[in-house]
Amino acid sequence: MDNSGFRRSGYRSHSFLNDYIPRNRCKKIMEIGVADGENARNMVMVASQHFPVEKVEYYGFDTFGKKDDHQMEKVRQKLKKTGCKSRLFKGDSVKTLPKTVNNLPKMDLIFIDGGHSYEMVKSDWENSKSLMQKKTVVFFHNYDFSGPKKVVDNISREEYQVKIIHPPSDYPTALVRKRTHIEE
Ligand SMILES: C[S@@+](CC[C@H](N)C(=O)[O-])C[C@H]1O[C@@H](n2cnc3c(N)ncnc32)[C@H](O)[C@@H]1O
Repeated sequence: MDNSGFRRSGYRSHSFLNDYIPRNRCKKIMEIGVADGENARNMVMVASQHFPVEKVEYYGFDTFGKKDDHQMEKVRQKLKKTGCKSRLFKGDSVKTLPKTVNNLPKMDLIFIDGGHSYEMVKSDWENSKSLMQKKTVVFFHNYDFSGPKKVVDNISREEYQVKIIHPPSDYPTALVRKRTHIEE
């Protein structure tokens, strides 16, 4: 896989995730848009600061290059080496996520960073909602892109608390939690 696109800021590692995960003791993590799995590995490593790594669960959705399973297998091996529990789902998340969502646990953190069109982000958000509990956080990467922005701007402020963060050397990102959650 050509990773050159992932060298720019905003890929592979995100300061806001590396801060949030250990601070909030997240151990069930879902990412829509896995790419080469570097961000997945980083999230697992920071989560394991507070738990034995085998207790950390990672669920990743990506098209993984569509054709064969080569890219997905590379990510699988990368995650296996960490010792975490991981599951990868190959295909368009507009289709794979609704098929899978009933068999997934409630998440501590969901990172929406797959397809960035309005329709895709909207579908990823609608499906992610059912995996939220009181303390779950959903991060929408690239809030400055029109697709994520439109979805985030339409989220009910009565039901959800929405904050836009501006991490250094990264893209604006929306942080969304259920309203019942008291700010820590
Ligand atoms: C911006 S990259 C993800 C970067 C990764 N989250 C990180 O932080 O390094 C977007 C990824 O979403 C995947 N993707 C795009 N459209 C998708 C779709 N409809 N379903 C699943 N994955 C998709 C692409 O294959 C690509 O790997």
